[in-house]
Amino acid sequence: MIAIDGYSGCGKSTLARQLAHKLNYVFLDTGAMYRAVTLYVLRHGIDWLDEAALTDALTRIQIDMTADAGGKTHTFLNQESVEEEIRGMAVSNRVSEVAAVPAVRRFLVEQQQRMGRNKGIVMDGRDIGTVVFPDAELKLFVTADMETRIQRRYLELQANGFSVTGDEIRQNLEKRDFEETTRLDSPLRKAEDAILLDNSHMTPEQQLQFALDLANGRIRKEN
Ligand code: DC
Repeated sequence: MIAIDGYSGCGKSTLARQLAHKLNYVFLDTGAMYRAVTLYVLRHGIDWLDEAALTDALTRIQIDMTADAGGKTHTFLNQESVEEEIRGMAVSNRVSEVAAVPAVRRFLVEQQQRMGRNKGIVMDGRDIGTVVFPDAELKLFVTADMETRIQRRYLELQANGFSVTGDEIRQNLEKRDFEETTRLDSPLRKAEDAILLDNSHMTPEQQLQFALDLANGRIRKEN
């Protein structure tokens, strides 16, 4: 079990996917699960601060995650593929608010713990090393400077056909950083035993090598 946490738009998912592939582990993008819940509440006009309405909505949400042969994840909300829609700005602008609600976190953390039990898995998120799997064999905390993060998100959204400006991305990232680090339930923070990875000046290949060296060291030591 490898935990990869960190800020939005730092390339965590890319790293987690590649690392899982190299180690023959399963990859789980936990952010996609929070995004799927957000899509559901937006579509159904549910007020996520209304605890009774939200708790009731959660009973009607089933999330399934699959990976294709190339390692690309597909997220299903009640059997419907929502992989593209959950990446758009409508969901991105609200997801950190929905993710701050304790009932949502309990609902998803329980599923993540079940999925990760007894399995070689790389999970990326915000609270994996601190809350979901505090005993992970390796914990990485990924960060990068703001300009690098904006540029990466911009290219990613463009490649997926979304048209947004750099300013919109900056506002979104700043809002999410604030909400994720200041929320009361499971705020984003580096676990004490997590290794800091600032990839601002690293290529994807370099960061993968950095993580692989650490993972191989840990896995060998455990066996
Ligand atoms: O990784 P991402 O940008 O797709 O995550 C979407 C949102 O979900 C993000 O605002 C933070 C939240 N999240 C969380 O609170 N805990 C996780 N384990 C994963 C994501």
